[in-house]
Amino acid sequence: MKRIFSLLLLASLALSPTPAMAQTQNARFVQGGIWPDTDGHHINAHGGGLLEYGGRFYWFGEEKASHTSSALTGVSVYVSDNLRDWQKLPTALAVDTVDETSPIARGCTLERPKVVFCERTGKFVMWFHLELKGQGYGAALAGVAQADRPEGPYRFVRAERVNAGILPFGMSDADIDAMFALNAADYPDWWTPKWRDAVGKGLFCRRDLKGGQMARDQQIYVDDDGTAYHIYSSEENLTLQIAELTPDYLSHTGKYIRVAPGHQNEAPCIFRHGGYYWLVCSGCTGWAPNAARLYRARSIWGPWEGNLCNPCCEGTAERPADKTFLAQGTQIFPLRNAAGDTTFVFMADEWHPKNHADGRYLWLPIRFDDEGIPEIPFTPDFLGHRSQVTGHNCWRLLRSAQPNCDL
Ligand code: GAL
Repeated sequence: MKRIFSLLLLASLALSPTPAMAQTQNARFVQGGIWPDTDGHHINAHGGGLLEYGGRFYWFGEEKASHTSSALTGVSVYVSDNLRDWQKLPTALAVDTVDETSPIARGCTLERPKVVFCERTGKFVMWFHLELKGQGYGAALAGVAQADRPEGPYRFVRAERVNAGILPFGMSDADIDAMFALNAADYPDWWTPKWRDAVGKGLFCRRDLKGGQMARDQQIYVDDDGTAYHIYSSEENLTLQIAELTPDYLSHTGKYIRVAPGHQNEAPCIFRHGGYYWLVCSGCTGWAPNAARLYRARSIWGPWEGNLCNPCCEGTAERPADKTFLAQGTQIFPLRNAAGDTTFVFMADEWHPKNHADGRYLWLPIRFDDEGIPEIPFTPDFLGHRSQVTGHNCWRLLRSAQPNCDL
């Protein structure tokens, strides 16, 4: 395992691998290639995330069928000691194949599962985006399940809207008055300046106050002090929210904020480095790729600065940086080596909606420019090659082509 960590660090430090290494790595980890498990089957864990526990890595994700994106089995899990050889284990969270009325009945939509270990309870907690069977994307629920062992089996706990009846944290009286004056029925036409202004003030947060906030694309982040946060696309996918979880990680505490109102962010991925929390998100174009966005904050409760441009750079004609190399983020995973150094890996999905099970993966080590700003260069394979383009600050060069960003 140490060898793999060193390789990753070498990659991030832009040192060349030996030809022998490159050959093995090319065979197994070409970005967007087939990534076979130890049985030779393409890994089926989309919109997923890693958990490191007991010196092993567990990769959880959506187990997709070819013809539908609905969940026919549930959340898959693979285990590896070296990030290279992935063994498939029994389904981590199985959909309910008997009870049609279960929220996780076979045929529901169960997306972007993320698992964290709760030190306080000694349990493993999985959060996911849940849509009820036959109801499209209307329910927008946050689902949670729990297990005694990292690989599961996970027992479904509940699925619900978030923080019903509770206002976002830190609103002034004037903000609250402005929000309570809004009524979604007064804004039948979307995308007008008047509507945008109302969205910023919390039009949909207000609409959903009683029943709870919508929760779609999501992430779970455990901070250094053990506090866990749920980050999710809310308010009709127009605004992200960050909500604190209870000490057992099974519920929301009621403390939450709205981030980048009206920016239409999806696929939130978060990490902490150099005194900032960094959020890398996508735009909102379904399975089609778009340009990533970057935000940062000194405190998780904000203020969040952004939009700080697209951090992707050094793309190719086949893998354009302004389309996140044809992928969409799912998690930023901190990979620590024995010396305690961390490489942050941007894990992304290349969706294949004509054959969902054939969706591919890109794992890209994050680099920092000399101002400490993260950039995500395209590297042809995860464990080996350095970027083909030399030079640093590639992302800064792109800023001139992105007139609307804040840096
Ligand atoms: C994407 C989202 C995916 C999935 C898809 C459905 O934007 O990130 O997780 O929900 O839309 O169209």
